[in-house]
Amino acid sequence: MVSDDTLEKYGLFSAKVPRYTSYPPANLFVPDAGRRFQRDWLDLVEDGESLSLYAHIPFCRRLCWFCACRTQGTRTLRPVESYVDVLISEIRAIAGHLPNNVSLSRLHLGGGTPTLLSPDIMDRLLASIYDRFEKAPDHEFSVEIDPTEAAPELLATLARWGMNRASIGVQDFEPQVQQAIGREQSFEDTNRVVAELRDLGVRSLNLDLLYGLPHQTLDSLSKTLDQVVRIAPDRLALYGYAHVPKVSKRQVMINEAALPGPRIRHQMAGMAHDALVDTGYLPLGIDHFALPDDSLARASVGRTMRRNFQGYTDDPCETLIGFGASAISQFRGGFLQNAVATAAYAERIENGGLAAHKGLALTEADRLVGAMIHELMCYGTVHVSALPGHQAVQAHDILQNVSGDFPEVVSFDGERFAIDPGAKSLTRLIAASLDSYDRTEMRHSAAI
Ligand SMILES: C[S@@+](CC[C@H](N)C(=O)[O-])C[C@H]1O[C@@H](n2cnc3c(N)ncnc32)[C@H](O)[C@@H]1O
Ligand code: SF4
Repeated sequence: MVSDDTLEKYGLFSAKVPRYTSYPPANLFVPDAGRRFQRDWLDLVEDGESLSLYAHIPFCRRLCWFCACRTQGTRTLRPVESYVDVLISEIRAIAGHLPNNVSLSRLHLGGGTPTLLSPDIMDRLLASIYDRFEKAPDHEFSVEIDPTEAAPELLATLARWGMNRASIGVQDFEPQVQQAIGREQSFEDTNRVVAELRDLGVRSLNLDLLYGLPHQTLDSLSKTLDQVVRIAPDRLALYGYAHVPKVSKRQVMINEAALPGPRIRHQMAGMAHDALVDTGYLPLGIDHFALPDDSLARASVGRTMRRNFQGYTDDPCETLIGFGASAISQFRGGFLQNAVATAAYAERIENGGLAAHKGLALTEADRLVGAMIHELMCYGTVHVSALPGHQAVQAHDILQNVSGDFPEVVSFDGERFAIDPGAKSLTRLIAASLDSYDRTEMRHSAAI
């Protein structure tokens, strides 16, 4: 095991670094650039291509204090209904720019709380997608579900449209922790929704958990894990709580004095890892776990797992199109992000335009560094021979330099660059040292 002193020396307990769900990270996307690229990149989608679509629903009936997602509170469905009208217009407008014979490999509804929609509104939204996009043979339809906002009629509507994967927010089951993060949700309610989803044919179920929450201790997290294991989800995400009140204003409600420090956070991540592995889960990437027969575990073993804005995935598509306010798209040429504020997003669509605001066109250097960071975040290793061929010399030099910066925890033999499994917690930091952009002014989350 790598000692805490070594981890501290490399900045694990003090550094702030990106989560690298994309490279370059989204905070480097350039304002207005998205507008210029959007039509050209849509035109480059190929005949017969399989696509991945994401639709963002930025509304919640309750606003949990810990949450850093782009969402807004609402008491009624009126603003949600108007928003979905705009979303449907955007889907039609984008579809008009695509070849007729594209198919739909993945559809993901996220937020916010997609399950806030009434069955009628959900029907309209899904009809607008499935009328235009034919399901590909490997089609999967997944939805983010808040179990306190998941009416049986709505779940039945989603199942009728083919929902076969779901991701449920849990975070922690301890009442004191739940009160401190403004999110109360019983084990029983969660378990009931899980049972309903399984009855409806959802075959892959993910649970989100957090470590580093206020009042959380090693003991309390261990109790939560015992309950989680009883639910036996196919996949688990165990994220470090990102406390970024300057970015996510609602986090000022969190009592900072009750937050565990970085060394305890590190112990929590390690304890949870060991407990889940002992129960039969395979660790994937930096913060996911899956049962060995789940498709994500198989993708990890076969090195086809990927990382994108939705986290780790077995999604094989080259093009991911995001609909809705703040949604991010990934094209062969680079990234786009829609206008973030709901009003600004709606204005663009209602004026007959497309909604991209920020964007970034990838350079050859971005592609090379991005490929290396992607391999590290997925597998903790980089193989030079698997990188874009003509850049092997640059790749070799970059990896040689970085391995020199982390002598105790990284090995490099000229072909295989590998992070010591005992230093997996340093992965984001090591990825950050491959990153060639200046991050001095950026507000990232803690490295652990
Ligand atoms: C967009 S939320 C949607 C979840 C759904 N609305 C619910 O409440 O169950 C997806 C996940 O992001 C994660 N998340 C939100 N805020 C976070 C933060 N500050 N730090 C780390 N993860 C966070 C949580 O684990 C959450 O379940
Ligand atoms: S955790 Fe879910 S329900 Fe809570 S504010 Fe975030 S998106 Fe909304």
